[in-house]
Amino acid sequence: MTPSTDFELRRRTFLAGTASAAAVAGIAAPAQAQQDAETAAVPDSIEPAMRSNVSFTVNGQQQTLELDNRTTLLDALREHLRLTGTKKGCDHGQCGACTVIVNGQRINSCLSLAVMHEGDEVKTIEGFGTPDDLDPMQQAFVDHDGFQCGYCTPGQICSANAVLEEIAGGIPSHVTGDLTAAIEATDAEIRERMSGNICRCGAYSNILAAITQVAEDRA
Ligand code: FES
Ligand code: FES
Repeated sequence: MTPSTDFELRRRTFLAGTASAAAVAGIAAPAQAQQDAETAAVPDSIEPAMRSNVSFTVNGQQQTLELDNRTTLLDALREHLRLTGTKKGCDHGQCGACTVIVNGQRINSCLSLAVMHEGDEVKTIEGFGTPDDLDPMQQAFVDHDGFQCGYCTPGQICSANAVLEEIAGGIPSHVTGDLTAAIEATDAEIRERMSGNICRCGAYSNILAAITQVAEDRA
């Protein structure tokens, strides 16, 4: 059955609204929440020997947390700093939804303990842009419909920015043919380097188009 014109218009309006919200996922609300929220306290039942203080910079802001030693960087960001733009997908290092940048390199924050990051500089999706001033990669994802549900999008955007830095920095990948020549941001290079970021909706071709556009704009 063909949907009515009215239904189509309402659906498009909804999709346009959710599209921009996903690309800037976690920027506006968590920034406010971060100001308001007390950091999640370590339960009294956790022995002193099982707690540590850790200080690091997150999106340019110095943070000091008292944490259960077993707290992952992902949980420290989401539960203690209320930076919920970074998503927990698999919690096993298999989906890339939790990708953040630490000291300039992308990592899966679900696989890293927060106490390992004393003195580190952490950048999350909230550090990339604002709803009124999107990072070029966020804008490209919007322009190219690089997401559907948007759950994977924060990790994709963190990874995508890191991928272009890696290519510009001459770091080879599994598909790099000539290790002595400058590396091009080809489809194969981008696909290979983004392969750790899973999108269950299958927006891959649009994600590729978005990253390629940013690579071309930077060239
Ligand atoms: S939540 Fe970390 S890789 Fe899936
Ligand atoms: S847009 Fe749905 S999982 Fe990526």
